[in-house]
Amino acid sequence: MQTAKRIQVLSKHTANQIAAGEVVERPASIVKELVENSIDAGSTAITIEINGGGIDYIKITDNGSGILAEDVPTAFLRHATSKISSADDLGHISTLGFRGEALSSIAAVSRLTMRTRTKNAESGTKIHIEGGDIKECAECGCAEGTAIEVRNVFYNVPARLKFLKSQRAEGAAISDYAARAIMGNPGVSIKLLNNGKVIYHSPGDGQLRSAIFCIYGGEVLPHIKEVDYDDGRFRITGYVGTESISRPNRQQQSLYINSRYVRSQQISYGVQRAFDTRIMVGKFPFYVLDIGVNYEDVDVNVHPNKMEVRFKDEQGAVRAATIATRMALGDPVAPTIRREDIITKKTAFGSINALNAAVRQEIVQPTDGKKPDKQLSYSELFKPADKSPLKLK
Ligand SMILES: Nc1ncnc2c1ncn2[C@@H]1O[C@H](COP(=O)(O)OP(=O)(O)OP(=O)(O)O)[C@@H](O)[C@H]1O
Ligand SMILES: [Mg+2]
Repeated sequence: MQTAKRIQVLSKHTANQIAAGEVVERPASIVKELVENSIDAGSTAITIEINGGGIDYIKITDNGSGILAEDVPTAFLRHATSKISSADDLGHISTLGFRGEALSSIAAVSRLTMRTRTKNAESGTKIHIEGGDIKECAECGCAEGTAIEVRNVFYNVPARLKFLKSQRAEGAAISDYAARAIMGNPGVSIKLLNNGKVIYHSPGDGQLRSAIFCIYGGEVLPHIKEVDYDDGRFRITGYVGTESISRPNRQQQSLYINSRYVRSQQISYGVQRAFDTRIMVGKFPFYVLDIGVNYEDVDVNVHPNKMEVRFKDEQGAVRAATIATRMALGDPVAPTIRREDIITKKTAFGSINALNAAVRQEIVQPTDGKKPDKQLSYSELFKPADKSPLKLK
């Protein structure tokens, strides 16, 4: 029998390193966290500079609110945040960050320098931290906003450093994230420089089409259809591509929940399902979709990287994604709806809500095996100009 070993509390340093590992998986996670902080700070322009795939050097510069001089060291403490103040706030998160652990995690595994100045402040603050230890914190001259430089990622965590991919692959993961940030924030001008070369520079004109153009070029624009759907619980906006620009991987799929970039196999399936048999097996459609939902109806506190979410009504979200995509593609909203079903229900189908109620009912309780006699398209039910209902006899 094995003898019992003594139990001891880990040192703060070790605990920090373990926690940091959950937030900072690779250089792209650092870029994600810092860009999200810049967005939460109300920035309209963000520059991302990287060298050596982000392993050697990352610099994020923004023109956001900046941090008050007296708060600068606090920002690097674990569980220090300006975004929530109590557990109740976790039920309705409206900012990208809320856990108060990104800066402390990044500072624990790198050499970090921040310069920040709030609006109208006479001077700014510079702080330098190595492996979690503050080496310098002093007044400095700098532009309004915040600039953070991160050097030598995982220099003090050899186990992690060993598992990083090549500089090229880590740089590609950062480009990938930057593209997602650009399409998720069309109102923010985001620039990515890799080893001094401009990779992306979005205009920040608030138009998703401009952001898509910046990432994919003009070739995709003739093949994308606008999605604009609202059933009262889920508001889905963005673009889906026709089958002609589908790809054998999910590289062209970007999903946002309340403008937060997330991954969801279920929603992805919901979109794919809308294409039915028109898309070949092994091919995936292009989409850039944002699902707007009440903050109370979605839990974003699932994983430290905040890339997973849980909907209160996941089935509803998936169904909404399917219907929204079908409508954008100009397909029948639901193949099983029959005109007489709708008419005989004697309901005032004055809103898309009511139509979707009918769609939901059909999906949950299919009719008695009879083939639908007429498939209704969205345009048959709603006038395209003002989306008000057509008069149903
Ligand atoms: N670029 C920035 N501009 C202004 N304030 C910032 C910036 N970056 C960080 N902060 C401030 O520092 C605090 C700590 O940042 P940190 O990223 O560690 O936590 P968070 O964003 O609150 O939560 P999360 O850990 O989920 O990202 C933030 O709450 C914010 O007040
Ligand atoms: Mg943050």
